[in-house]
Amino acid sequence: MEQVLEVKGLKTYFYTEDGVAKSVDGVDFSLAKGKTLGIVGESGCGKSVTSLSVMRLVAEPVGRIVAGEIRFGGDNLLDKTEKEMRGIRGNRISMIFQEPMTSLNPVFTVGNQIGEVLKLHQGMTTAEATKRSIEMLRLVGIPLPEKECMNIRIN
Ligand SMILES: Nc1ncnc2c1ncn2[C@@H]1O[C@H](COP(=O)(O)OP(=O)(O)OP(=O)(O)O)[C@@H](O)[C@H]1O
Ligand SMILES: [Mg+2]
Repeated sequence: MEQVLEVKGLKTYFYTEDGVAKSVDGVDFSLAKGKTLGIVGESGCGKSVTSLSVMRLVAEPVGRIVAGEIRFGGDNLLDKTEKEMRGIRGNRISMIFQEPMTSLNPVFTVGNQIGEVLKLHQGMTTAEATKRSIEMLRLVGIPLPEKECMNIRIN
């Protein structure tokens, strides 16, 4: 079966004043095409740091991926430039962050924040991003997305 994502020997460490925190220390897993993979474990065991590593969003220089491979579509994501990663993030791999109060801005509508991703990662215009955001909100069953999620007046 084709593997979409293969993580091998991943090690992500944090170099703090109090020493090295080996948050992810040799993790292997793979995800087959069309399958869903859940990673479970107690709080602090490294689920978020593993996911952030796949996205290449570990906060450097304190945090560093020190070993391993993250194979995605035949490439090792650890060899990608930041520019290349920006093309992959939000298009081919996305992350839904924990803690909506810190990852979403309550001042903006959710439609606006979905649209921002489309503008940044897919180069859409504001009008295109608005249209697509409404479509996606409708797909997940939000009634009247223009009104509820975009602050667009409808009659
Ligand atoms: N920036 C950082 N500096 C130092 N240590 C960190 C940093 N970020 C995460 N850690 C440590 O890495 C370990 C793994 O954290 P992580 O957030 O991945 O846990 P988790 O499995 O996602 O937990 P939860 O279920 O609570 O979300 C923890 O011990 C955490 O304290
Ligand atoms: Mg977490």
